[in-house]
Amino acid sequence: MLKTPDVLLLACLVGAASALYKQWVPDTNYENKTNWDKKAVPCGNDIVEFSAQREVSVFVETTHAMQEMRLPLDGEFILDSGAGFYAVSGKDPSCGAGVTTQFKDSESLQWFDPALWQAAATLDDLQRGNFLFSVHEESVPCRYDDVVFKVRSSFRVDISSGQSSIPVKSVSVLGRMFDSRSEFSEYLSSRSGRLQFHGSSSVAVGEPGCGDPSGCDCGNSAHHQRICGTVTCASPSCDKPLLPAGHCCNICGAIVTIHSAAGFNLQTYRQRIYHLFLILPQYKSIQLGMNKVFKPQRLMGIIPFGTSPEIQVVILDGEKGTQSEALARDIVRDAHSHGSNLGITGAEFQASSGGSSDQSGGTAGMVVGVVFGVLIMLTLVIVGVVLIRKGVVQMPSLPSLPSLSRLKRSSDVGELSGPLDHGYDNPMFDKPTMLPDIPGLYGTEINNSISLTQTGVHFVNPVYDENETDFNA
Ligand SMILES: *[C@@H]1O[C@H](CO)[C@@H](O)[C@H](O)[C@H]1NC(C)=O
Repeated sequence: MLKTPDVLLLACLVGAASALYKQWVPDTNYENKTNWDKKAVPCGNDIVEFSAQREVSVFVETTHAMQEMRLPLDGEFILDSGAGFYAVSGKDPSCGAGVTTQFKDSESLQWFDPALWQAAATLDDLQRGNFLFSVHEESVPCRYDDVVFKVRSSFRVDISSGQSSIPVKSVSVLGRMFDSRSEFSEYLSSRSGRLQFHGSSSVAVGEPGCGDPSGCDCGNSAHHQRICGTVTCASPSCDKPLLPAGHCCNICGAIVTIHSAAGFNLQTYRQRIYHLFLILPQYKSIQLGMNKVFKPQRLMGIIPFGTSPEIQVVILDGEKGTQSEALARDIVRDAHSHGSNLGITGAEFQASSGGSSDQSGGTAGMVVGVVFGVLIMLTLVIVGVVLIRKGVVQMPSLPSLPSLSRLKRSSDVGELSGPLDHGYDNPMFDKPTMLPDIPGLYGTEINNSISLTQTGVHFVNPVYDENETDFNA
């Protein structure tokens, strides 16, 4: 168990993969008219007022005239080259009658407000406005994301959180990128840093990127309440609203669940879905987001053991969710016909319009799973009968205790060998169809079922010897 973080770290160092760029939307720029209470940038006849009590860092791009300016107790102007202020004594004919206009208060804008972030796969996409939809938890920067504050722009963000620091991969401020923890904490304690970031915690950069091509855990579930506290949910207009994992609100749309194996690449798959489906005219109003979620696993539906990763595809359309269901069907069909090339072992969906995929017509993995399950039940029964007959066991509770503890141990082995195998086989040899594919192919549920056979029933079924050597390796 102790070794798990090391293994994860190792996997993370292999290379950044499915991390995103998250850009903070609001600014405290003088030229942004949304920052003024009169909804206009002040001109020569106006009196400019900054609230005395507020601290603010204001970016100024050009030269501005005014009658008078009232400054805050603490604040700064970041002047672009050629920018400045001058007071006019007479009337400016190009300006109106002259008003007192106040700079907007940015004090309450919170880091954990999902509405204040835009996400994109690359910096280029960020600039071109090709933004990605995400569930609320992942709209806010994840620990492996690059955080971007716009170039030629200043801001003020409340970074209060329940924890001492918010970990991210890097932060770019005013065009300068920080990925070293010490350099950024130095920036945070600078004058600009203190005016831009305020609140009870700190932002810590230098986290490793996401090294798993199939996606990583965002790490924001600890902040779920804080994130959802900023979100107002509209009441859904469909019959059976769905609640995606990591989202704050019920949605009308569909959720596709993808079961992935070695060789699955979240970024590539996201692009595939965009180019195959989202460009189609009938899906114009669709919003689609993909993320990795960890579903709690239960052996035979009762005994919890760890979690299994799944890819959650959230599909929303503005309407009643009918387009979403059509798209969900397309995605599941695509996954079934091209899954082996994409590293997908299964896919199913649920739609708020009432539709869902046919579970029984599932994939090879599911069929094999059912067969394995039945075989294991049978072997357990046989072993039980044999043990009771030989007089080894009298009480039914006795055999369940040792087998449980063994089960735990073997599932640990499974967790450890999983990422290790992927880390070595995937990037170095780039062969998705090697040994690690086998556990993934049959799903984690069956892995553990196999582990169960390993704990003492293995002699019954020599057919599975091959799988067992996998797990011991
Ligand atoms: C002005 O601020 C608003 C809200 O903070 C933001 O959405 C918009 O992008 C900004 N305008 C520009 C030109 O940056």
